[in-house]
Amino acid sequence: MIRRQIVVSGILAALISFCGMSAAQQAPPKYEPTLDSLNRHPLPQWYAGAKLGIFIHWGLYSVPGWAPLNHPDHDFNSGDYIKYNPYAEWYLNVLRIGGSPTQAYHREHFGANFSYYDFAPVFNRESRKWNPDRMATVFREAGARYVVLTSKHHEGFTLWPSTTPNPSPTLPKAAQHAERDIVGELTTAVQKQGLRMGLYYSGGYDWTFNTGPIETNTDYETVKPESQAYGDYAFAQILELIVRYHPAVLWNDIDWPKTGKPLEVEADYYNAVPDGVIDDRFGIAHSDFTSPEYQKLDKISEKKWEECRGLGRSFGYNRAEGETETIAPGELIALLVDIVSKNGNLLLDVGPEADGTIPPVQMERLKALGAWLKQNGEAIYDTTPWTMAVGKSAEGDDLRFTRKGDDLYVTILGKPKATTLTVDGLSANPNGKVTELGNPKALATKADAGKLRITLPAQLKGDYAFSFKLAGYAR
Ligand code: GLC
Repeated sequence: MIRRQIVVSGILAALISFCGMSAAQQAPPKYEPTLDSLNRHPLPQWYAGAKLGIFIHWGLYSVPGWAPLNHPDHDFNSGDYIKYNPYAEWYLNVLRIGGSPTQAYHREHFGANFSYYDFAPVFNRESRKWNPDRMATVFREAGARYVVLTSKHHEGFTLWPSTTPNPSPTLPKAAQHAERDIVGELTTAVQKQGLRMGLYYSGGYDWTFNTGPIETNTDYETVKPESQAYGDYAFAQILELIVRYHPAVLWNDIDWPKTGKPLEVEADYYNAVPDGVIDDRFGIAHSDFTSPEYQKLDKISEKKWEECRGLGRSFGYNRAEGETETIAPGELIALLVDIVSKNGNLLLDVGPEADGTIPPVQMERLKALGAWLKQNGEAIYDTTPWTMAVGKSAEGDDLRFTRKGDDLYVTILGKPKATTLTVDGLSANPNGKVTELGNPKALATKADAGKLRITLPAQLKGDYAFSFKLAGYAR
């Protein structure tokens, strides 16, 4: 095998010098608009190792910032789901459904004659108070390595000064885009913190081109605009985003109009940002990762995946949500560890208020997550799955495994049940060393009948979940 590689690379080198090119002059791969070409895109290491990204849903819907609290389990297919949609960023759609709670809420707070796009001047006024550097610092301190911002959600309002005119008569000129270049300002601030900046774009729905509303499950398909005018518009806008901001993640939602040349979009993107990544919602058979939403995988997936969900039940800001509706810190940390053990990333969504303030219940979670990652991040970042993701100790603890080279990491979800931790399937390793992350003291171990028993420190550090490094045990 090695011999063959040497022969092949020898031939390649000869060919290159024959063409008068040195290896250093080789052009980067050029992607063509075909699945064959796109599928040659390798998964970039930075994304595989990043594990935690922050998703931001921010738009006109952040002004009313409201949705009912029904459907806590996101049972997307239940009969009245759309009318009682827990996603506050769907405000405009639900407002258009007769007798919906959102319609009643809107009448009560803004009056029947106040149109959705009348929120634009309020959004512009409020977002003048926003400090992008402060927001980017919060994300870095939470332990995120990348950020994905909604550049345009289903409502059609863009968070950058798009130069592609929207021909829709339902959208007043002054409500086409935000006054500030939120996309540009946040990109600069996020990169300044050493994080990568990605962009979400709603290609499949644009309620300025097809107003719907989506009321039943069959409308999910029929309300997708497919006209040539929309295809041209979406194509021009996403190219603007690629050229202007070079997003590290191109996160499209719902679908992509066939009239908007999805293969060309993806090839153009890779040619502009070769180490960027694309999600699986472009309606074509190419992606760098899959994107389950409020769903967990029960085993390791070879294909890279990224779970997205809000800290609460909604992606956009919902003022009706509080402590009860927001994931508890311990559950959030367990969720991240579980996802990472199965080859996933967590794209955790915050819903800022119109002025960019992250609600206090969400801030608390970000702080707890950041503190936990500071101590235990070694078991998370840049790891790969081990042969097994999930386990149970002999003492009854729920365990998750990850690895880095020869080192194995075991994380106990919640407080340990005993003073020892006994892991199945590990034998004695005279060169191994077991420590609690954040505490360099080697822990005593005893191997017996294919099990390794670790004596836990009398005083464990931190809270919520406890990671142990078993150096040399992943061999
Ligand atoms: C969706 C929703 C949406 C949310 C998104 C995030 O399909 O329509 O509101 O932006 O997915 O994954």
